[in-house]
Formats: sequence, structure tokens, C-alpha cells
Amino acid sequence: MTTNPETTEPNFRTPQLDALARGVIPAEHFTFSTETARERFFKDTSMLDVKQDVHNRFRTNPQSMIGHMIANLELTGAEDLLDLGCGNAFVLEHLRPHLAGGTITGLDNAPAVLQAARHRMHGTATPCRWIEGSADDLSMLGDHAFDRVMANYMIHYVPDLDRCFTEVRRVMRPGGLFHLTTDRPDSMLEMYDAHFASLREMGAPVDLFKATPKGRLSLDNGAGILGQHFEQVRKVVWQDQLRFTDPGPFMRFYEVGHNHCCASSEPDERLDEAFFTELRDRVRAKVVAAIEQNGHFAVTKFTGTFLCR
Ligand SMILES: C[S@@+](CC[C@H](N)C(=O)[O-])C[C@H]1O[C@@H](n2cnc3c(N)ncnc32)[C@H](O)[C@@H]1O
Repeated sequence: MTTNPETTEPNFRTPQLDALARGVIPAEHFTFSTETARERFFKDTSMLDVKQDVHNRFRTNPQSMIGHMIANLELTGAEDLLDLGCGNAFVLEHLRPHLAGGTITGLDNAPAVLQAARHRMHGTATPCRWIEGSADDLSMLGDHAFDRVMANYMIHYVPDLDRCFTEVRRVMRPGGLFHLTTDRPDSMLEMYDAHFASLREMGAPVDLFKATPKGRLSLDNGAGILGQHFEQVRKVVWQDQLRFTDPGPFMRFYEVGHNHCCASSEPDERLDEAFFTELRDRVRAKVVAAIEQNGHFAVTKFTGTFLCR
């Protein structure tokens, strides 16, 4: 690891990783509907719980994702904040002390995770409101009602992006800030490398070789899309590297957190349990080999936020 001299942030990017990304990450990405998200991924909080736990416990960047968000949001403490796709309020719990004189509105279309958010924030001092709905229909909210609007790691599920961004502009006060966090398509490259190499060894169907669904609006293409709706779009990127010295937590991250890099995201009659058992065995063997060789299995993250005004 080196340090980026312009930001003092850790820099895990190397020419070797860049070359690997070009060879490994497919141009086409998975696309999932918001219904699939609600009925399969977020019917309970298990997927969110695994990801939040692993991202936090195994990171090597001392600045957490939440720390980056707090820095980006420039809160005075009195803002009215709307969080689109708020999930189980993992982010909001950490932001709340920075909004002591403000309000929080969390919106999500999955009832189970919204209930977990309500439960997590119950009885705290900042007034909270919870809305079950889709981020592209904010008709229940008034014009110019919010100083900050967030959409973190969720925009790829929203059916109508144009309508969503038009609505965000409508509900935002003049001088407000829209904070949208997503990934570069080659984020977590080493996980995709182990996954695709295993699929190749197994002669798996070609339609499983697709990049993360975040490719729909990623750090690479997002500025162009957002620039059609906002006068100013600034990209703030940061990197992290998860390091695993035991294969167990990574395998949970891969299987439960990422549905085998989306291979098990949709019911598929071609792929039975034996397929996924063999896939996991092959991925695990690669992770174990990396740990034996390097002392850890590294998963490098390229993530960041668009700050839109
Ligand atoms: C990966 S989670 C991110 C949760 C949270 N923003 C965070 O960063 O921890 C994606 C969230 O988006 C929600 N979601 C999916 N489609 C949505 C939509 N059309 N409108 C609102 N929320 C949606 C899911 O239910 C889920 O809670």
C-alpha cells in the first residue's frame, strides 16, 4: 500500500491490479429489478448484516465508509436529511449525532429492513420518519423540504433514474446537497477473479460472467448521468482493502453478502445445490492458497461518492 499524496488516503491501486481488472471484469453487468431486491435480497436484513460486518471488521483504511460520508455531507447539525434506500439505518445510526438539531427521513421499499431501521433508531433524540416507497416516487414529500438527500449503494435498483433525480431536485432546498455513493465496476476485483476463474474451471453458463449490477450507475459512468440533472457534480473517491487471514468470513461475504457474485441471485433450474457446493469449494481453495502465499487474501475496494448541487 502507498499513500495518495493529494489526499493522504491509502492507495492500493497498482499496475498489476489495473491489468487484472482489464482481463477479469466483463463489460456487461447484472441488472436486477427493485422487486427482486425487495423479495429476495432484502426480505430480511441478513445480506446487509453480513456486508456491513465484514466491510467494517476487515478494512485496512483507518477512515471508515461512514467517516468518508460524514466528511462529505458537511453537516452543521441542523439539517433535514432524506436517505433513499436507507436499509437497516446502519449509516443513519452513525450520522444521527451529527444531526442533533435536525431531522431524519428514511425511505426504503423493503418492509423488513425499514422495520429494522425503525427499531434501531427508536427513542433517539433526532426526530425520525420512515416511509415505505420507491426512490423514484417522492410524491408524499413536499418541495424544498430537505438540505441533504442521500442514495448510498442503492441507485442501481431504482426503476426510473430520470424520475428519481428530478424528484430529488424537487425535494431539495436551494443550496442543498445530493450525496450518491456507488462503486467502480472493478471494485472487489480479487473476489470476482476467484469467482470467474472457478466458473471457467466448471464450464459454467456464459451468462453468469457479468460485472456487479452497480455498473448501471458506477463511479465510471455516473458523472455523465447525474450531469443531466444537477448543475455541479463532484466525484470523491476512496479506496480500501479488506484483508482476510481466515477463509470463513470471506466465504460468508461471498455467499450470503454477494449471492456468489450474483450467480445465485435469481432462481435458476440449471444451477442446483451441487453446482454451488463445487463453486464454493473452488473459490475457497483459491482464498486458502492466497492466504498461504501472502499471509492474507486481499479484496480491494474502489468506491466513492458523487456530490451533486
Ligand atoms: C445495498 S442496500 C444499501 C442500504 C443503505 N443505503 C446502506 O448504504 O447501508 C440497498 C437498499 O436499497 C433498497 N431499495 C431497493 N430498491 C429501492 C427503491 N426502488 N427505492 C427505495 N429503496 C430501494 C433496498 O431495500 C436496500 O435496503
